[in-house]
Amino acid sequence: ADAEQQAHFDDLIAADSRVEPRDWMPEAYRKTLIRQISQHAHSEIIGMQPEGNWITRAPSLKRKAILLAKVQDEAGHGLYLYSAAQTLGITRDEMTHQLIDGKAKYSSIFNYPTPTWADMGAIGWLVDGAAICNQVPLCRASYGPYGRAMVRICKEESFHQRQGFEILLTLMQGTDAQRAMAQDAVDRWYWPSLMMFGPPDDASPNSARSTAWKIKRFSNDELRQRFLGMLVPQAEALGVTLPDPELHWDEDAQRWRMTEIDWSEFHEILAGRGPMNAVRLQNRRDAHEDGAWVREAAAEYARKQAATAEN
Ligand code: 3HC
Repeated sequence: ADAEQQAHFDDLIAADSRVEPRDWMPEAYRKTLIRQISQHAHSEIIGMQPEGNWITRAPSLKRKAILLAKVQDEAGHGLYLYSAAQTLGITRDEMTHQLIDGKAKYSSIFNYPTPTWADMGAIGWLVDGAAICNQVPLCRASYGPYGRAMVRICKEESFHQRQGFEILLTLMQGTDAQRAMAQDAVDRWYWPSLMMFGPPDDASPNSARSTAWKIKRFSNDELRQRFLGMLVPQAEALGVTLPDPELHWDEDAQRWRMTEIDWSEFHEILAGRGPMNAVRLQNRRDAHEDGAWVREAAAEYARKQAATAEN
């Protein structure tokens, strides 16, 4: 590209303006956006499975209806994000095959099992709570289609987080067995939800450039700290204990001190060796195969429409 195009791009970023699909952009900017947005979309789609596991077994019609709505929202978030990624020149088919061929990353958090109903509460409260902390700043991402997709997604995410909190609150006001079930789910989802924010800042290869390009507005550790600040008072309101005895506010340093996260677990999951990685991918492959006839029928219908339009 000539210097003028680069200068124009740099001015857009410096002015905190939006880069749109038709604008010239550095190939590395395009590449990192395709990377992040497609992985974000994959996360939303795979994220339907852990909760989908409880739709047929929800304890009441109300809980079933809420969970159904939430899982449908996640599907919609995935479609917005795939569409945003497609504006950068990658096709839906390419992204789908990257996922089902096991070549694409998606959020580590969805590779854990959901053995009890309380997991629906812990996922809403912790996973969607973490997602909100991470996604609100993304509404201001420099790439237009991504930032705009985030605005709608964040509105729905707030409902997801509130219904999770309410499930846990209901359980914590129930029998001892229900309280124990809620605490067990918090114990299992707490550390994985902290890992959602990514590796520590000094081990985050993409952060420097993503920050320079105003895709990432706050660092992984900054958002993790913000999430903890949100969690602590809500855990007190719920009456649950966050499973880290070291967690405390350091007034001098103005930050939360905590036990070091076990990053080996994180890297195991990223390597595809988490508790549910294989199941999640197999389910996604099966859904793709089961849905092939729909794609073929739609393509055939579109062909016939085009043919009649020509005559
Ligand atoms: N799970 C899987 N991979 C992760 C990860 C996680 N929790 N955290 C980091 N990684 C990967 C990164 O993708 C990167 O690998 P890559 O270069 O091959 O893509 C590597 O680990 C190093 O991490 P970096 O910090 O350098 O990467 P980023 O700058 O991209 O930061 C991120 C990671 C904060 C997750 C950022 O990509 C991001 O903000 N993504 C958009 C948000 C997102 O994907 N959220 C998914 C949460 S689930 C969700 O939203 C569904 C909700 O409805 C519940």
